[in-house]
Amino acid sequence: MKILVTGMCGYIGSHTVVELLQNNYEVVGLDNFSNSKREVLDKIKQITNKEFKFYEGDMLDKNILQTIFSENKIEAVIDFAAYKAVGESVQKPVEYYINNVSSVLNLLNVMKENDVKTLVFSSSATVYGNPEKVPIKETSKTGGTTNPYGTSKLFVEKILEDLYKSDNTWNICILRYFNPIGAHKSGLIGEEPNGIPANLVPYVTKVAKGKLEYLNVFGNDYNTKDGTGVRDYIHVVDLALGHVKAIEKLKKEKQGLYIYNLGTGTGYSVLDIINTFEKVNNIKVPYKIVERREGDIDSCYSNPEKAKKELNFTAKYTLEDMLKDAWNYEKNSH
Ligand code: NAD
Ligand code: UFG
Repeated sequence: MKILVTGMCGYIGSHTVVELLQNNYEVVGLDNFSNSKREVLDKIKQITNKEFKFYEGDMLDKNILQTIFSENKIEAVIDFAAYKAVGESVQKPVEYYINNVSSVLNLLNVMKENDVKTLVFSSSATVYGNPEKVPIKETSKTGGTTNPYGTSKLFVEKILEDLYKSDNTWNICILRYFNPIGAHKSGLIGEEPNGIPANLVPYVTKVAKGKLEYLNVFGNDYNTKDGTGVRDYIHVVDLALGHVKAIEKLKKEKQGLYIYNLGTGTGYSVLDIINTFEKVNNIKVPYKIVERREGDIDSCYSNPEKAKKELNFTAKYTLEDMLKDAWNYEKNSH
């Protein structure tokens, strides 16, 4: 099966392409390098020893999409290309809505014109807003997003629902990721945040490496076991394998609209992360407790049962594995 992967050089895209190639899928990639580096292409070849096709271009440019579909017999698309920085999205809502919503409309148009109707879309646990109850099921209420990034994901989910209602020969899988962390075992690919990281684990690895002085723990008065925020961290390689499972499901079903949480089902606090990182890597992570970060919630973790039952997907890696691999990547990178 030949799959177009948009945003293939990014954090989750690169790990997914590795798993797709290792499972004998053919990959055609697209990226504009707005948040990734070209060298990722060589790293993927190094890990897999397999060939793939790549186009440099912007998903907002309908012509590049048309070229890809006319030059390749694409059978399915996995759409990762988007901007993802929550804080930045508050400053640049127009840019976020254009890049995260208009790009998908372009893609859907070109897919329709080429009669390709199989799509896996990267959504996020952020669509649940401040969840009424944890663990979160796919049937839990969505909405109440607090930033344009989250709202852009919610909009696309709605667009995909409307599309499927209008034509039920589409075959769509929406994956709601919880918190992907870690890196490929090889240490060749991983997360490359621009500037000072906004997310916890990339910040922790930079503190451990001495590039940042200490970690700010955003609040210790949440309604959680130790007062710090609880999240469902999932190894990025597990998440990548979840995409292979989603493609297998779509291949089998031929049509439908499916929504799955991809998480482990276990919540860990910020202090759990610090303590486990220090223990498995034998390195200190100095930290200070500071004010809460605006928009943060107490606890967010998944009920992963639906993906287990319908996709045969269960995350395998432990928190220890995730934090070892995150550190291994940081040590290997410049
Ligand atoms: P990333 O920024 O590392 O990767 C996105 C890739 O898409 C980058 O390589 C970027 O250059 C490319 N890109 C962006 N806009 C593009 C455009 N218009 N045309 C072509 N390429 C474009 O992000 P990621 O962490 O790999 O996330 C992948 C997807 O998963 C995104 O849709 C993101 O919103 C979603 N997601 C991520 C997380 C997370 O914590 N990382 C959580 C939930 C959902
Ligand atoms: N945290 C700190 N210090 C930091 C960074 C984070 O204490 O420097 C805390 C946060 O307060 C939170 C936890 O660590 O309790 C996790 O924070 P992240 O920023 O790593 O992750 P979030 O859960 O806030 O958000 C992430 C992505 C979103 C996505 C969401 C759900 O950034 O895009 O997971 O998938 F929507």
